[in-house]
Amino acid sequence: MEILRHIVLFVHLIGFAILFGAWAVQAFGGKKQVTGLMSVGMTIAAIAGLALAAPWGLPEGVHLNYAKLGTKLVILLIIGALLGIGSARQKRGQAVAPVLFWGIGVLTAVNAGIAAIW
Ligand code: HEM
Repeated sequence: MEILRHIVLFVHLIGFAILFGAWAVQAFGGKKQVTGLMSVGMTIAAIAGLALAAPWGLPEGVHLNYAKLGTKLVILLIIGALLGIGSARQKRGQAVAPVLFWGIGVLTAVNAGIAAIW
């Protein structure tokens, strides 16, 4: 079970890498648009993250920090909302507001920071 948990963590990290990588491509030299690949990465990170939020495959005596996980879930929902608003605006031919675009990248980095540091 512990090995399976590590595999799910690996998938979670792939999701994070796809989301942040897709955003970084757009942010640095790109058109600063919201892309489908960002949503794909976020969905992978969300599904694997929720699976990791259940207490299974943990070594003896290791407990989950639910305050930390709840905070990450709220931030993930905000990222999802920003992606949804951004893609809806793009479909209407409007530009994505800078606060919305940068919010996606900053909040993704914040979630990775919370995971690593909290
Ligand atoms: C965009 C959203 C997210 C990003 C960027 C992200 C990023 C990360 C990263 C980088 C790690 C590895 C940290 C380490 O092992 O030291 C991690 C671990 C983990 N993540 Fe996420 N995550 C996100 C969303 C979520 C959500 C929504 C949940 C569940 C509610 C979650 C639950 C976990 C769990 C349980 C771990 C295992 C290590 C720990 O307990 O912190 N993640 N995440």
